[in-house]
Amino acid sequence: MSTWAIVVAGGSGERFGQRKQYLALGGERVLDWALRSAAERTDGVVLVVPVDAVDHPEPLASMVVAGGATRSASVRAGLAAVPTDAATIVVHDAARPVPVPGVWERVLAAVRAGADAAVPAVPVSDTLREVDGRTVDRTRFVAVQTPQAFRAAALRAAHASRPDGTDDGSLVEAAGGRVEVVDGDPANIKITTPIDLSVAELLCR
Ligand code: CTP
Ligand code: MG
Repeated sequence: MSTWAIVVAGGSGERFGQRKQYLALGGERVLDWALRSAAERTDGVVLVVPVDAVDHPEPLASMVVAGGATRSASVRAGLAAVPTDAATIVVHDAARPVPVPGVWERVLAAVRAGADAAVPAVPVSDTLREVDGRTVDRTRFVAVQTPQAFRAAALRAAHASRPDGTDDGSLVEAAGGRVEVVDGDPANIKITTPIDLSVAELLCR
């Protein structure tokens, strides 16, 4: 019963201003950190990259495939390359490079114990306000991170109708799956803008 990871690095980094996944971080590239976290805990890693980067050698990955126009399409491209006998699949953003203890272990344990999906989440610290509404009660919300682990069949079923979403746990939930929320880690930041890369430099030291 093998476990595979899909590391999605097929984005264009519009909010950052460039392809953040290839920028330098702690002497390597941003995506190398996510790849190493994945490779240490799984039997194989599919790396999903922009179509023009697909021939670039990636020694930390078992396979490299071309992504799609959206994150969900990129996950599907990765899913197509994961061996059909993999029982558990973890999807991780290349843009989350900071190694944090425990998060991979918690999502994997929850799926191995029977959940269709397990997602890490952290409390929201800012006050939340609807753009055209009013302030909402932030204690009703958590911020969801990756890595997210899945029973392979549940992830494949959730993607069968080619849905679109900002993560995969929400797609499994929409498809009727049971999603377990485990503790994430505030240090497990996603690099979205240049400020985040500065913070990641500190956290990766
Ligand atoms: N991603 C992907 N394929 C896409 C879009 C995103 O593989 N078509 C990946 C990104 O490379 C990133 C992760 O999904 O590792 C999370 O996406 P995000 O942080 O939104 O990255 P970008 O889409 O590149 O950034 P932006 O939304 O600012 O353009
Ligand atoms: Mg994006």
